[in-house]
Amino acid sequence: MTDLMAKAAAAALPNGTKFYWPLLGETLAFLHPHKSTSTGRFLQEHCSRFGSVFKSHLFCTPTIVSCDLELNTFILQNEERLFRSSYPKPVQDILGSLSMILVSGELHKKLRSVALSFINASKSRPDFLHVVQKLSISFIESWKTKNQVHFLNEAKQLTFYFMLKNLLSMEPEDPIAAKVLEDFLTFMKGFVSLPLHIPGTAYSKAVTARRRISATLKDIIKKRESEMSGAHVRGDFLDEVMGKGCLNDEEKVSILLDLLLAGYETTSGLMALIVYFLAHAPSALQTLQVINEALRCGNLVKFVHRKALKDVTFKEYVIPEGGKCSQFSQLHTLIPPSINIPLSSILGDGPTQQQAEK
Ligand code: HEM
Repeated sequence: MTDLMAKAAAAALPNGTKFYWPLLGETLAFLHPHKSTSTGRFLQEHCSRFGSVFKSHLFCTPTIVSCDLELNTFILQNEERLFRSSYPKPVQDILGSLSMILVSGELHKKLRSVALSFINASKSRPDFLHVVQKLSISFIESWKTKNQVHFLNEAKQLTFYFMLKNLLSMEPEDPIAAKVLEDFLTFMKGFVSLPLHIPGTAYSKAVTARRRISATLKDIIKKRESEMSGAHVRGDFLDEVMGKGCLNDEEKVSILLDLLLAGYETTSGLMALIVYFLAHAPSALQTLQVINEALRCGNLVKFVHRKALKDVTFKEYVIPEGGKCSQFSQLHTLIPPSINIPLSSILGDGPTQQQAEK
């Protein structure tokens, strides 16, 4: 037997908890809320007991959880070759089956290229920074009359209105913007809740809110179509999508929703983390690495899901093919410490792990 074959033969499933609750497994413990500045008790306890790759039962599926930098990088580098995105059914119900993080193959390529061309074009638009600045100043001005400002909520509104402006040329004062924001907040609440399809639960309200947002977006698309025959060109994302003609209406709605979602929760969370970290370590501003470090120290995206397309042997582990959803957590482990002076070391008087856990 060659070395390689011997290694493959010795590989086994990672260790993990022996007893799981039926169906739920360890999902509740995994989803237990924790501060963004920590990895949460579930991962801390499991990693110290079983190592950075362990077996669990999450979202009704036997799952391998990896907090291992090398394995996570390997999984992402082998997208569509050895692994494919595979989110649990409740996520599909809430995002819609055409969401970019759920589809694969040609459809994924098509949607991704439309999204990327928008992101790249936005960056080079001459009024891009001007719009950001104008909106930010108007938000900061509004704080003058408030006794207290909840920064994360403000950042969420700011990024949401910014995305509405870029995607649909919609101004914050537009009554439809307020309606979409309200539905979006309901949608987001359910997106991170226990997926119970029972009327009245956050999850079920979110599924309904998504339908309402889709209907609103469809109306906007119809209205734009009737305008397109005239010479009224806004130069926003919707114009671009409609001009390309490669997407049907459902795909247009889905990609709009994807981008609203992508720009909303993550960017606002990052802004809030930056303010939080800088308050504890103002000198970090001089390192000019604040964004990278806030991404590394914070936990903006707790996990992504992938399934193995065939049996994969990596180091001493085997990740079995098929329905088993292999999942890896802690995206920040994918981002190598980027600088000589990590923010975490400057955060001397910042929160300790234990304080952050409280
Ligand atoms: C701090 C900010 C952000 C973080 C941490 C973040 C994180 C992520 C992660 C982890 C994924 C992979 C999900 C998966 O494959 O399962 C993803 C996908 C994606 N994100 Fe972001 N994101 C951020 C901001 C944005 C913004 C501002 C946009 C666009 C305006 C965006 C657009 C996308 C798109 C289009 C995808 C799907 C890519 C694909 O499937 O090929 N993201 N993001």
